[in-house]
Formats: sequence, structure tokens, C-alpha cells
Amino acid sequence: MIALIQQSKSLNDTMPNMKSWFYILSISFSLSNALAQTAEGKPSGYELMTSKQYGNCIACHDMPGVQGLVSNFAPSLKGVGQKFSAQELTQWVVDARRFNPDTLMPPFGSTHGLNLVRPNRVLLTNEQIALVVSSLQSFR
Ligand code: HEC
Repeated sequence: MIALIQQSKSLNDTMPNMKSWFYILSISFSLSNALAQTAEGKPSGYELMTSKQYGNCIACHDMPGVQGLVSNFAPSLKGVGQKFSAQELTQWVVDARRFNPDTLMPPFGSTHGLNLVRPNRVLLTNEQIALVVSSLQSFR
């Protein structure tokens, strides 16, 4: 502990400008990260459904536009735009337990009754769910 304090003291003494450089660097890093995000834009409904980071619906469902290995754990999403109304599709994504209390589909818009690591964070925001639903509506 003492050694650490002494070391940081001597660092401050010998390189007084290091700290300010570090701050300048970290500020410019966070700025460039923020810019990269705005430049890339928000993920589309399709990306939200196929990306592991978001819905990852393809872990369980087959859906139009996805090639290669497809899951048959859950019903295919092909044709769901004809099968369900926008309201029903929203309900499926928000909380499928409404249709089947024992479903194995995760509730993307509800944290009710779940033990989550971050309890106040839903898997998808309302805005993201709306994008997913409009993609689902196009699956005819
Ligand atoms: C862990 C697996 C899993 C994931 C991930 C998953 N689902 Fe499901 N989903 C299911 C299962 C299982 C069903 C069948 C209904 C039931 O459980 O009774 C289902 C049913 C559905 C249905 C109704 C289909 C029908 O024809 O009856 C829709 C629509 C749906 N899911 C959309 C989605 C969307 C959109 C995502 C991603 C945001 C998603 N699912 C992610 C497992 C999953």
C-alpha cells in the first residue's frame, strides 16, 4: 500500500503532465465512441431480431432472410404477419406469457416475475419492439 502511494506520488512528481494527457485521451475516446454510434444509427427491426446482442429471435425461430443453420425450437416466423395483428405480435414480443404462461419464449418488454441481473432493464425498449413488430408484419 505504502509502496503504491509512493509510486503514484513519484509518478506525479516526475510526470506531472501524464494525468492531463490521460484525461484528454479518455475524453477524445468517449467522444469518438459517441460519434461512431450516431453515424452507425440505430439497429433495424431485422438486426434486432438476428443480433445476439438484442432479440436473438433466430436462436429459437426460423425467419425469412436467414440462411444456413436455422432453429426449429419454436414455430417459424414465416407468415406471422398474416397470422397475427400488430397488437397480437406486440403482445407476443412484450410478454409471450400472456398467451402461454409456461412459454419458453423470453418476455422482451417485461421484467415482471423475473430474477434478472439488472432488474430494471427490459431486454428490448418499446421503440425497439415497435421496429421488431413492423418487421414481423412484413413476414407474409
Ligand atoms: C428461447 C427461445 C425463443 C426466443 C429467443 C424467441 N422466441 Fe418467440 N417463441 C418461442 C416459443 C417456444 C414459441 C411458441 C409459443 C409458446 O411458447 O407457446 C414462440 C412463439 C413466438 C411467436 C408466435 C408464433 C406463432 O406462430 O404462434 C412469435 C410472433 C414470436 N415467438 C416472436 C419472437 C420474436 C420477435 C423474438 C425475438 C425478439 C422471439 N420470438 C424470440 C421461443 C422463443
